[in-house]
Amino acid sequence: KKNTYIMGIETSCDETAVAILKNGTEVLSNVVASQIESHKRFGGVVPEIASRHHVEQMTIVLEEAFNQANVTWNQIDAITVTEGPGLVGALLVGVNTAKALAFAKQKPLVGVHHIAGHIYANRLEKEFEFPLLALVVSGGHTELVLMREHGNYEVIGETLDDAAGEAYDKVARMLKLPYPGGPFIDKLAAEGTESVSLPRAWLEEGSLNFSFSGLKSAVINTIHNAEQRREKLNPEDIAASFQASVVEVLTEKTFQAAMKYDVKQVIVAGGVAANKGLRHALTKRFLNTDIPLQIPPIHLCTDNAAMIAAAGTIAFEQGKRSAWDLNANPSLVL
Ligand code: KG4
Ligand code: ZN
Repeated sequence: KKNTYIMGIETSCDETAVAILKNGTEVLSNVVASQIESHKRFGGVVPEIASRHHVEQMTIVLEEAFNQANVTWNQIDAITVTEGPGLVGALLVGVNTAKALAFAKQKPLVGVHHIAGHIYANRLEKEFEFPLLALVVSGGHTELVLMREHGNYEVIGETLDDAAGEAYDKVARMLKLPYPGGPFIDKLAAEGTESVSLPRAWLEEGSLNFSFSGLKSAVINTIHNAEQRREKLNPEDIAASFQASVVEVLTEKTFQAAMKYDVKQVIVAGGVAANKGLRHALTKRFLNTDIPLQIPPIHLCTDNAAMIAAAGTIAFEQGKRSAWDLNANPSLVL
């Protein structure tokens, strides 16, 4: 069987990324140019700045991905690109780059859903076993996704308001921590105690949905009340208590879903999968079950293009082709 070489492009948020994969799982290159430094002073991603950086970085990242992979254009079988969801101006840079290259080099073009990419980051480590349950936790998403076969996604639970990463970033902002705040809260949490009483949003009995806005409000109220009473609250304790609430709900609902659908494998995806508290709690929860739990290494948890090429390889092999009118879709459904 002939080898396949798939290129992936990702520009949905604040990383410009290009990767080249061999046979769906062998990463020949995975180049990521992060813009975090440019957005930090604004406390979040500024869409206009993100788009401009993508334009500036794209050709550089592309060239580097080809140099590292040591393949020629001739060998490339398809160009895969994140078509959504994400920031529309940011997505457009990737989509138009992919279209221009596909047209110029006469290659098939395949649009990929960003979350499918996060899920498929796990396949770079180990082959999937179905039915598979994915906990997707990122800055924009909190979803439980059931997969019965490759390329088939059923959302069985999702957040009704904020995404888990978004809640992390907002609480970090209240604690005056830099952007993105998730990793800083994670670090502080390890040094604090869970002494601040905060709610857990279980929602109605058996629900696999999530809600983090109540928790976020509870943290704001706790901080304000302490300020009014001139009491000193330890940021470490707030971080530890907040993280405990998020982690407990994510872990328990993932476990319930795994039991309910009798899955063969559980994987975790998205930037928040880098969280030490979550990794620890999930590992412990699935320890004495016969369901293998897989969490990707941190560089594959956050946005990258190898994950897009990984999901794109499956879509390509299943015959998916995008037409020349492929467009960025900020609210693309999985
Ligand atoms: O998947 P990702 O790189 O981008 C999106 O598609 O959103 O996820 C970024 C999110 C941010 O909200 C960031 O604060 C969060 O992931 N994050 C973390 C950790 N590392 C990144 N949240 C909690 N703990 C971490 N260690
Ligand atoms: Zn992402």
